[in-house]
Amino acid sequence: MANFKEKNRKVTVSLLKKLKQRRQKISALTAYDYPFAKILDSAGIDVILVGDSLGNVVLGYENTLPVTMEEILHHLKAVRRGVKRALLVADFPLQGFARQPFKNAKRLMAAGAEAIKIEGVRHLALIRQCLKAGIPVMGHIGFTPQDIKKFGRPRIVGKTPAEEKVLLQQAILLKKTGVFALVLECVPPAVAKKITAAVKIPTIGCGAGPYTDGQILVLYDILGLTQGKSPCFAKQYVNLSELTKAAVKKYIRGIKR
Ligand code: KIV
Repeated sequence: MANFKEKNRKVTVSLLKKLKQRRQKISALTAYDYPFAKILDSAGIDVILVGDSLGNVVLGYENTLPVTMEEILHHLKAVRRGVKRALLVADFPLQGFARQPFKNAKRLMAAGAEAIKIEGVRHLALIRQCLKAGIPVMGHIGFTPQDIKKFGRPRIVGKTPAEEKVLLQQAILLKKTGVFALVLECVPPAVAKKITAAVKIPTIGCGAGPYTDGQILVLYDILGLTQGKSPCFAKQYVNLSELTKAAVKKYIRGIKR
């Protein structure tokens, strides 16, 4: 957050909208447990997302598809205990749509989420139901990992004029429906710029270039903790895998000498 005075101010949905109006950038990261939630929050991050990237990043699944409501809820509760200032958003996992999705949205809020994120435009009825009940919803378009079977692999969405048109339509539809912010994942920077100009709600880019109102990345990617390949757009700030391995080796040597 750019403004020093607001460093300690609780981040709310309406504050995010104000940041866009003031052209101040929004910082967001994922978290899945109490210690990292506490560290991110005290560092001044604006938004913490308990993403369903939990599946591939922390739980060792191949992708986000198998993540259950119980798994998200378990991690959300831990993160909740560590967050005071940031806006806490919970991802709505694919498995949660199968039965009583509205009840599941309410379970996420009861577990401490202040908003939920729903991928794509397929679940408009649920989004409307949530908004009517006072549950703030964050949208997510572009490459949506819950559609990995359709996409085949992670890829940039919006390269062709036809795809660009669809993205703009989706962004406007979601804004009209009432989502408070929009994640743009793997979208060409020029398209993200157009969407950001076209909607009054904040856009949060994830591999969408510099022209969005904010940025989100997976925490483990920027810390070098992701096992396997991180997306090429995720800058690694430190290699905690290597540092941890070196520390553990030192520990082992201390025991076995
Ligand atoms: O699940 C997740 O981590 C996400 C973000 C990367 C946007 O959806």
